[in-house]
Amino acid sequence: MATIQKKALVIGAGTGGYPCAIRLGQLGVDAMLVEKDKPGGVCLNWGCIPSKALISATKLYHKAQHVSEMGLKFGSPTVDMIQMQAWKSGIVKKLTGGVQQLVKGAGTAYVKATAEFLGPHKVKLTYADGKPEDIVEAEHIVIGTGSLPIEIPGFKFDGKRVIDSTSALELTTVPKRMLCIGGGIIGLELGQTYQRLGTELIVLEGLGRILGACDSECADIVAKQIKKDGGQIHVNAKAVGWEERDGQAFVKAEIGGKVQEFATDLILVGVGRRPVTKGFGLETTGVKVNQRGFIEVDNRLQTNIKGIYAVGDVVGQPMLAHKASHEGEVVAEVIAGRKTINDARQIPNVVFTEPEIASSGLMIEEAEAKGIKVNTGKFPFSISGRAMAIGETTGFVKILTDAADDRVIGVHIVGPEASDLINEAALAIEMGAFAEDIALTIHPHPTLGEAVMEAAKHALGEAIHIGNTRKPAH
Ligand code: NAI
Repeated sequence: MATIQKKALVIGAGTGGYPCAIRLGQLGVDAMLVEKDKPGGVCLNWGCIPSKALISATKLYHKAQHVSEMGLKFGSPTVDMIQMQAWKSGIVKKLTGGVQQLVKGAGTAYVKATAEFLGPHKVKLTYADGKPEDIVEAEHIVIGTGSLPIEIPGFKFDGKRVIDSTSALELTTVPKRMLCIGGGIIGLELGQTYQRLGTELIVLEGLGRILGACDSECADIVAKQIKKDGGQIHVNAKAVGWEERDGQAFVKAEIGGKVQEFATDLILVGVGRRPVTKGFGLETTGVKVNQRGFIEVDNRLQTNIKGIYAVGDVVGQPMLAHKASHEGEVVAEVIAGRKTINDARQIPNVVFTEPEIASSGLMIEEAEAKGIKVNTGKFPFSISGRAMAIGETTGFVKILTDAADDRVIGVHIVGPEASDLINEAALAIEMGAFAEDIALTIHPHPTLGEAVMEAAKHALGEAIHIGNTRKPAH
């Protein structure tokens, strides 16, 4: 057993840990990144990237069957799930391989081992290949151990009938029927993925509506699409258990005080994720974990113990890759002695449903709860020339401004390419832009981005292509 001295040690090569390790290297800090599994964490291996690959492939499959109006007929497309999975895995392999190269290229050591705290600044590394253990002593340690899917009573994951998102990304046949417990991001993104391939979809959501973290009008549009494609959504529905009968699964759920039963082939549980704070000796450090199980950090991502930091899903919501990466980079700068703090004004949220939902800043309920009087500007894609030309006219851009000064405080988009359109909104909110800043910026024609500009003009009562609901601000 050797003792290795490092200035900084990063535990976990997910989207929080690996950008931190790269930035540490760039800043000349003698650092090591340790990962027990594959580099890239959930995002690259079992989350964002593989799901987006399957989503884009199935969207193309679906679209190919619905473009006869454009004068295009492809006949009846077929699905080769084995090939689709191989293509997806190729993308994952390319990206995860790139992570190690980037870390090493930046000058940070990358080690495959399981890390366990022996005290606040002492970590044991155990290697899978039986090599003798090592001890790392580091002044700064960053915890980026991520999260795992939550299991609910009565629905133990078995990888066959009851699956989590990881298994749902690896199906090699298209299920005839799928029931999603949880009408959140995972349930709907993956539920719709298979629905586009012909799976009959049932969604059971415990609360009064799906996608509770999104603008309700945006969520309604996705709900409408799921139903239009033949799916069912049951809200205020609590799944209580399931049993195997006659070669199929029967899920029991309490809906409005009554128990209903649903027959299905596959049960996807997507009811949230829990932070990973156990099993790696965290208790030996004195680091404080709050009642919800998240590690508490300050605005420099430092825990209650000096020199121990945490980033990503372990520190709380939103559990998003881009939030984790930002935090990782902030911590690296803190360790390098810079005065950086985590003061992001907004964290965009994107849901890759059909249609996509993307948002930045406040929801209307949040703004009103803060006592802000809100002006709303809205522009539907149904009157966007570009949206018509690509045959995707569902949805809108909604811009919320502070009525006191027309500053942009929230943007909610549902529709084609919402995931990319939101970047302009994110920049606007981050920079404290006013609706005029977007409205006076010349947007290229014909693009979907014009809808963002038109919504900003609408918020000011100055829209050109839609009736205004307020007197012009200028
Ligand atoms: P979620 O928090 O998005 O949704 C879980 C849903 O399940 C909620 O609507 C909740 O009310 C419902 N629920 C909870 N218990 C239930 C029960 N017993 N019966 C019925 N419904 C129940 O969580 P999800 O979808 O599991 O995703 C986990 C995390 O992964 C999210 O926090 C998200 O940030 C992240 N993620 C992000 C993606 C993206 O950025 N596009 C994609 C996928 C996941």
